[in-house]
Amino acid sequence: MKHSTNPQSFDHIVRNVFAPIYPVIAEQIVNRTAITSGRCLDAGCGTGALGIALANITDLHMSFFDQSEEMLNLASDYASSHNLNDRSTFIRGDIHAIPLIDEDVHLVISRGSSPFWDDWHKAYSEIIRILKPGGMAYIGGGFGNAALRDSIVKTMSDNNPDWRNSFKDRIKPEREALPGILASLRPSKFNIIDDESGFWAVITK
Ligand SMILES: C[S@@+](CC[C@H](N)C(=O)[O-])C[C@H]1O[C@@H](n2cnc3c(N)ncnc32)[C@H](O)[C@@H]1O
Repeated sequence: MKHSTNPQSFDHIVRNVFAPIYPVIAEQIVNRTAITSGRCLDAGCGTGALGIALANITDLHMSFFDQSEEMLNLASDYASSHNLNDRSTFIRGDIHAIPLIDEDVHLVISRGSSPFWDDWHKAYSEIIRILKPGGMAYIGGGFGNAALRDSIVKTMSDNNPDWRNSFKDRIKPEREALPGILASLRPSKFNIIDDESGFWAVITK
């Protein structure tokens, strides 16, 4: 089991340091998927910041999904404060066995959660299973653009000099294996973005 994220300290970081990245990433998701309605699963949603930013600029119904009850409670408070109650559901579970039927959702998004997943082949096969035909997934991590990334790395590294390397190195083997994993799962299309926006797998079922 990979180590987990402490909900209270993560919430503090999201609100005080990471906050500006989510609207930028949400806009990139819209530009790169063009999916703005239907049902979206925010996988490993944490406090829900990305799903909320995306719901704010689309008509998507957002299903916030996480293994942590405490994270989902924070996400629920946060969604209420954005008046998103009637477009939100909250689902607790494990990415390796998503409690949804086949071909259920139009879009899966996930930021910063995959480094914690034990089995990327199983996790991505679950994500593809629950997508509708033609549905898309946008899975990975990053800070949106170079200016945001550099300022966040500086702020976080002031407290912990090893902060960036600790998570980059942790998933190097999985990142290298990802093209092979995705090819074996045979979605109709996939593309890996590795640029200033972050490291993202964009998959079309
Ligand atoms: C670093 S946080 C990222 C949260 C959020 N996506 C963001 O970008 O602000 C990682 C989240 O992934 C969740 N997570 C980790 N492993 C998971 C798994 N196997 N199934 C579901 N959620 C998981 C954790 O509980 C945590 O909330």
